[in-house]
Amino acid sequence: MVALSSIHASNVLISTHLPPHLVCVFLGGTSGIGESTLKALVSHAVQPKIYLVGRNKASAERIIEECKGLGPEGYVGGAEVIWLKADLSRMKAVVGVCEDIKRRESKVNLVLLSTGTPSFDRSLTPEGLRAFLATAYYDRTLLIAHLTPLLLNASASDSLARVVSVGCGCDEGIIYPTDFPALKIPFSAIRGHFGTLTTLTLEALAQHIVDASSGVTFIHANPGLVRTPYQDRMTGWFGVFARTLMWVKKMTGEAIGIEESGERHLHLLTSARYAPGGGPIADGTSPAIQTNGSRAGDTQANDLDNASNSSKPNDVIHRTTMNAVYSLDKNGEPAGQNIVGLLNKYCEEGMIDNIWAWLKNEYDRVGVNLV
Ligand SMILES: NC(=O)c1ccc[n+]([C@@H]2O[C@H](COP(=O)([O-])OP(=O)(O)OC[C@H]3O[C@@H](n4cnc5c(N)ncnc54)[C@H](OP(=O)(O)O)[C@@H]3O)[C@@H](O)[C@H]2O)c1
Repeated sequence: MVALSSIHASNVLISTHLPPHLVCVFLGGTSGIGESTLKALVSHAVQPKIYLVGRNKASAERIIEECKGLGPEGYVGGAEVIWLKADLSRMKAVVGVCEDIKRRESKVNLVLLSTGTPSFDRSLTPEGLRAFLATAYYDRTLLIAHLTPLLLNASASDSLARVVSVGCGCDEGIIYPTDFPALKIPFSAIRGHFGTLTTLTLEALAQHIVDASSGVTFIHANPGLVRTPYQDRMTGWFGVFARTLMWVKKMTGEAIGIEESGERHLHLLTSARYAPGGGPIADGTSPAIQTNGSRAGDTQANDLDNASNSSKPNDVIHRTTMNAVYSLDKNGEPAGQNIVGLLNKYCEEGMIDNIWAWLKNEYDRVGVNLV
């Protein structure tokens, strides 16, 4: 487990060891985990520029106002937070957001994806996509695909380009290739299926789109149980179940607070533990293992440990030449051998290509391009 003290120790180094003016995109930043991660970023990074994408104007305005009082020493109020209004359950709106960002920026360093509310309702959106997956999966994948050139530019210029998708990392299970949108599979199988679909889609993005000579990190994160408004948004019996579970977990102290969750997700976005790129690895942690079983940051971690002792501000951190995909549990720890083995089996069976082909069809049907 990455201790909270190590995370704090790492996050306070962001202002001196990562470049200023990071460009960041938050889907789902108007509430919950996304909002707390955005505020943690504004508290630690030097003059970041953040695109906050969502529907809720009142929340966006409140967050922009609150961010004016945040920032590292000497840079309070230095962040620029720009709200882009969009209903991300509509894929055409997602493409519109990407076009808007591409018109304004030449690079994107950090992307946090935390949209959506879990639901076992199998209804479809007007575009014909399963409603739950529209904001928990389809919007995220499309955004990453369309912003890939900007991520590559950030990797080249700042050695830091990273995507964190908040979902159910380390809960991968059996995937159902004849029912990727999970319209028919049993309720008990959905989490495992969705976990594997998400992780293998990040693998697909890393393999199919991103130039293999660049270093972009893709993380499928598991936040654990976090006290946010999302339990209140859930409808039906599942909502009652989620609210009861949260009440019990609050009582037993197993649910974590929103500030801690924000610091933890900021660490995923910035630490060299999840190389390539990133800031110094705090004491007590070592580079994490990727979903393919390898450890991308071995040599880089040593470089970064040295950098953490440097007094020079904003040291340029070495970059590796490989993309990396991580599936992480609520403690920031990587998937164990069982999951790595399962994912490898699916990769050998050609599942990544199957997912990619299915996805292209899905987006074609909606009338948007995957790339
Ligand atoms: N909290 C937990 O314990 C927990 C546990 C496991 C996984 N997760 C996952 O973590 C993610 C974030 O959860 P959270 O607790 O932070 O939830 P939350 O507080 O309800 O936040 C959800 C965010 O998604 C945005 N969103 C939803 N539908 C949207 C749409 N159609 N268009 C644009 N934005 C949309 C909301 O923005 P608007 O308000 O602007 O609509 C909001 O910012 C979710 O995917 C959830 O499944 C959470």
